[in-house]
Amino acid sequence: MKKIIKGVFILSSLALLLSACYNDNEYDLYPFPTAPCDSSNVTYSGTIAPIMAANCNVCHSTALASAGVITDTPQDLAAAATNSGLWEAVSWAPGWKPMPKQASQLSPCDLGKIKKWINMGSPNN
Ligand code: HEC
Repeated sequence: MKKIIKGVFILSSLALLLSACYNDNEYDLYPFPTAPCDSSNVTYSGTIAPIMAANCNVCHSTALASAGVITDTPQDLAAAATNSGLWEAVSWAPGWKPMPKQASQLSPCDLGKIKKWINMGSPNN
């Protein structure tokens, strides 16, 4: 009896071992690959405005303007970049209020695009 149990154990271990890597390929592991981060063509209207609309405007619309910060017009967002710590807030810099408030941090891809837009001089394009 013990031998049979041992045999079954060894056989099933072998089967496990041999099949373990069966699905070990990129396609099976990541069937829905996330698009690579493309920050080559950052514009206000095409890139930044949608990020603000999805994450910030609910509190920082022109009407609400939480903390005096407005994120739904290019001019106000540029002003926030210069005067109100836009980058510090979204990058969760120490001493600044981490934004978006009570939500997870923006993706590294979105952060990179915001940084690039600020470095470009916050254009309205
Ligand atoms: C749920 C509401 C809410 C959301 C969403 C939100 N904010 Fe805020 N934000 C606030 C409030 C309220 C303050 C004032 C500080 C505080 O109470 O935390 C603030 C402060 C700020 C400040 C000033 C930070 C400082 O330390 O002085 C900036 C810049 C800012 N928000 C930008 C953003 C950006 C950009 C987003 C989107 C990525 C965002 N916020 C999303 C509510 C929000």
